[in-house]
Amino acid sequence: MSKLQQPVMLSALMAGDSWTVLPAFVPVPGMGVLPVNSFLLQGSEPLLVDTGLAMLGDAYLEVLASEIDLDDLCWIWLSHTDADHIGNLASVLERAPKAKVVTNFLGMGKMNMLGHDLSRVHLLEPGARLELSDRTLTPVRPLYYDAPETIGFMDSRSGTFFAADSFGALLPDIVSTFEEIDEDSLRDGMALWSTVDAPWLTSADQAKFAQALSAMRQIAPERILSGHLPVANRGVERLTRIVHEFWCTDTERVADPLSIEMVAASLG
Ligand SMILES: [Fe+2]
Ligand SMILES: [Fe+2]
Repeated sequence: MSKLQQPVMLSALMAGDSWTVLPAFVPVPGMGVLPVNSFLLQGSEPLLVDTGLAMLGDAYLEVLASEIDLDDLCWIWLSHTDADHIGNLASVLERAPKAKVVTNFLGMGKMNMLGHDLSRVHLLEPGARLELSDRTLTPVRPLYYDAPETIGFMDSRSGTFFAADSFGALLPDIVSTFEEIDEDSLRDGMALWSTVDAPWLTSADQAKFAQALSAMRQIAPERILSGHLPVANRGVERLTRIVHEFWCTDTERVADPLSIEMVAASLG
């Protein structure tokens, strides 16, 4: 089990030709470590996906600034407004005067309540895509999530699917690649993370969820970017199989002790 005591920011890594991952890990006492990633699309209209953990502060900004001149940053795609995804939003906006924040109506409302500058928002209307000069990002609701404003996307040009909190895993220790995670660690780590992050999955319709998993396989992304997993190149089969085994079969699925049904039964 990891001996990591403090969150740590690692150096940026390429994910295919056009994407870069800015990886960090946060210790979760007794359970291992949680990857916390943000991502950068370089090119004619640079776009940052999420802004990392606030507790990383300068370390985060240093790695980001080593990858891009922040004066050039055009967009910040906000997956959702959780602390591990918008931690350095205000500092990035301050250093990136041109950047607009891409979010939806609920995301904007939550930004407002957190005191962020709404004049920098580019509101994604339902059904709208983000058209960049060299590619289109198609918004998609990830398979599971912990905040209803969550928006992932598909970048068809590079075959890159951003899944926000989906496919995250608590891991025994820091790793740099998806391929080096052994099957048991990945399975247990994803089961634990999805149970914590999306407890509503215990009552989700198994057949419908299985359909969503097969739609994910049909999209067949070349790589999956998750906020909480190393970049999964050619990982769609492996990841959807694990999620299917855990959430779409009765043998694996566990009941939620806080569900209304369980509490009603305990109250007699
Ligand atoms: Fe979240
Ligand atoms: Fe998250």
